[in-house]
Amino acid sequence: MKNILVTGGAGYIGSHTCLELLNSNYGVTVVDNLSNSSTEPLRRIEELTGKKIDFIQMDIRDYRGLCSLIKEKSFYAVIHFAGLKAVGESVAMPIEYYDNNVYGSLSLFRAMRDNGLNKIIFSSSATVYGNPETVPITEDFPVKAVNPYGRSKLFIEEILKDIAASDSNWKVVILRYFNPIGAHESGRIGESPKGIPNNLMPYITQVAVGRLPELNVFGNDYPTIDGTGVRDYIHVVDLAKGHLSALDNIDRLDSLEIFNLGTGRGYSVLEIVKAFEEESGKKIPYKICSRRPGDVALCYADASKAKALLGWSAKKNINDMCRDSWNWQSKNPAGYCEQ
Ligand code: NAD
Ligand code: UD1
Repeated sequence: MKNILVTGGAGYIGSHTCLELLNSNYGVTVVDNLSNSSTEPLRRIEELTGKKIDFIQMDIRDYRGLCSLIKEKSFYAVIHFAGLKAVGESVAMPIEYYDNNVYGSLSLFRAMRDNGLNKIIFSSSATVYGNPETVPITEDFPVKAVNPYGRSKLFIEEILKDIAASDSNWKVVILRYFNPIGAHESGRIGESPKGIPNNLMPYITQVAVGRLPELNVFGNDYPTIDGTGVRDYIHVVDLAKGHLSALDNIDRLDSLEIFNLGTGRGYSVLEIVKAFEEESGKKIPYKICSRRPGDVALCYADASKAKALLGWSAKKNINDMCRDSWNWQSKNPAGYCEQ
């Protein structure tokens, strides 16, 4: 059995990926400092799969801790999710973001190198494309992050390129996620943001469940189908499976490859509201507000490279995404908090 070290595995995307890894007979060790999560999803994944997760509460900036762990276990590869991800917070706290995301990643890469572990899959983001000139976006589009969070992703990508160029034994896969939403179909694991959500879908589900009064739609004067922002929403289970496809193919790939993980189809905010209302039977009251600073009008992927090289494509549609988001939120109105 191949053992995978999953950093940030207690988080939203990490937990869904751990579940898929266990179901595909990988061994899973999670390193997470629980700064934005709890061990509850891991407990539920064990329940769902009947398999054990090896959990270590550790910060990835703990180089010595990582070295002893890597020495002790023989990992096949690392999937690196650990990081802070709130754009607004990153503008207010750039030092904390660079320290956690960039320095944390360097600590991990150093511990890997010093202990002969050289396969890594890294969570990057479509945010690195900034305001794209056209859509759909291919991996060779110019990159230009516009906030410290986005720059931390870009810096890590650049560091990984230098590492791969320095030693051809490395295998690096950079996955640029578009907009992950949805939850595992069991409704047992899902997204449980702390405080008021920044992102659209958790905001909508919290309105639906009565935790928030109404949705603020950030702008209806964009050059899009109905004036509201268009994004490429992808079901988190499809996204998780993208990591398995990357793992399965990693040895066949060049030392560094970058892939967009999206569906290739964009939906506006109001289209999402409509699809969510259909799937949940709940009315989502909303009001049109001014644009959110930093937002782009249109962002969706050309995901054909992942299809060609990894044999991966997203399978679930927007109704699946809305249904599963609602299934999770309605079964867990307070997320993991009240468990
Ligand atoms: P999340 O916050 O739910 O998960 C991240 C996990 O990392 C959390 O469990 C947190 O406790 C842990 N963590 C943070 N800093 C750590 C550190 N220094 N040491 C150990 N653990 C640490 O976020 P997510 O939505 O699951 O995102 C996972 C990754 O994907 C992140 O790197 C994020 O930037 C990236 N990403 C997310 C999205 C999205 O919309 N969710 C989009 C693009 C990219
Ligand atoms: C945001 C981040 C991006 C990050 C991504 C995933 C900003 C400016 N961008 O992207 O860097 O990679 O999340 O974590 O924060 N919307 C509303 N009302 C809301 C929330 C969102 O109308 O309450 C709209 C937005 O204007 C946008 C769409 O919904 O058009 C999606 O927003 P969101 O879920 O925050 O994702 P992104 O803007 O793509």
